[in-house]
Amino acid sequence: RTAQLTIDPAFAVGPADRRLFGSFVEHMGRCVYGGVYEPGHPAADSRGLRGDVLELTRELGVSVVRYPGGNFVSGYRWEDGVGPVGDRPRRLDLAWKTIETNAFGLDEFMTWAAAAEVEPMMAVNLGTRGVQEACDLLEYTNHPGGTHLSDLRRKHGAEEPYGVRLWCLGNELDGPWQVGHKTADEYGRLAAETARAMKMIDPSISLVACGSSNRTMSTFASWEATVLEHTYEHVDYISAHTYYDPSDGDRASILASAVDMDNFIREVVATADHVAAKQRDRRKLKISFDEWNVWYQSRLQADLDRRGWVEAPALIEDDFTAVDAVVVGDLLITLLRHADRVGVACQAQLANVIAPIRTRTGGPAWRQSIFHPFALTARHARGTVLRTEPVGPTYETKRYGEVPVLDTVAVHDEETGELTVFAVNRGDTDLELHLDLRGLAGLSASSHVSLAAGDHPTATNTEAEPDRVTPRQLPTTTTDGGRCSVRLPAVSWNMLRFS
Ligand code: AHR
Repeated sequence: RTAQLTIDPAFAVGPADRRLFGSFVEHMGRCVYGGVYEPGHPAADSRGLRGDVLELTRELGVSVVRYPGGNFVSGYRWEDGVGPVGDRPRRLDLAWKTIETNAFGLDEFMTWAAAAEVEPMMAVNLGTRGVQEACDLLEYTNHPGGTHLSDLRRKHGAEEPYGVRLWCLGNELDGPWQVGHKTADEYGRLAAETARAMKMIDPSISLVACGSSNRTMSTFASWEATVLEHTYEHVDYISAHTYYDPSDGDRASILASAVDMDNFIREVVATADHVAAKQRDRRKLKISFDEWNVWYQSRLQADLDRRGWVEAPALIEDDFTAVDAVVVGDLLITLLRHADRVGVACQAQLANVIAPIRTRTGGPAWRQSIFHPFALTARHARGTVLRTEPVGPTYETKRYGEVPVLDTVAVHDEETGELTVFAVNRGDTDLELHLDLRGLAGLSASSHVSLAAGDHPTATNTEAEPDRVTPRQLPTTTTDGGRCSVRLPAVSWNMLRFS
């Protein structure tokens, strides 16, 4: 089978924003406790931060990390997590039926974020709380000093304000599972008033209004429209969340998940632009795709049913397969393709909970299969995203109908002259890709890295065998007069670099 791709720097989408390579740390399962934080672990420092997880986080190339939830934030009192650890209350976390010790809180997260060299992205609780508590939290994090809460931060050891720039106005409040679930009008009003007040404290912050929890919600699109009617002038982003569930074993469909994400983005953009037109607002809102991943969701209920109230139970610790890694690579291609309208994206989550990094409490940390396409994309997608229009075969899926076998995006680094092409072959046979690079004179292929799942689709990385699924270097074809051909293995994610 063959496909064609023409790449030309004339077709620029926009800069490949580093914030597209974000992640998410929620107080859920063992993401915090036993993940990023484990006092007494051989790799932990004096503050309890696991050095092995920090190292893998830096290797992953994560830019921004959202905290502290997720569903957890909708019942969270941020002030429980600051001050002397011995004085912090133990609480019931209703979202995950867990006892929260509050040993790790805001100041610990900020210390961790600095060590991990990531930008913090905070969420405020608009489930059980409101305008005042959001303002209090912002005063604690961003106000320099001379007020009760900013001086409290200084007393807790942080002399300088944290200067958090990105803030989520709540989490998934369209979802009936959310503590403090609201209608679009209720949430829209609250988000608008919270946004107005927060910007009075710090006008330099950027705010994210909650969009839908996923595209299949019955309120999808009308939720965004109503929320934005209330909030458009006060916010900078509308959020989107999506998880793709491979549990039914329908491989053809799961490999086409990016088709759904692509449609989701286009529909949220259309809805936001509709509200902008009605309000005569010339600002174009961006999407914060602040939760996305593959997730074997059917396993969650079993995890929750199995126990009573306990601390940091193992929750949704999915073992990702080689096919899942190809899907994750393709979702990243989609996010990059929309770099003009998606400004932030966070893979959910960072450690243990549906995560690229897995740990054993008291034991080692390792890279899951999905770690690899993320790390390579974050490292090499630098410069300007270029629009690509691949021409190639299609195949039929149960979930999404007829879809293309090939998905691609290109990123051109004007400074180094390098071109990186990311390509996914969703098909179960090899694909011969003919590239036309005549618009970028003088390039020759320098490398072809491929994560191919065709031969071992269900293989996973485990503690015993942590490097079973990794990308491999394939033979490179050199360009001839601006043209070259590359073989993309069956069911594979590929990175082609030209310099
Ligand atoms: O990431 C796991 C959960 O998925 C988050 O807490 C919630 O926002 C979403 O439903």
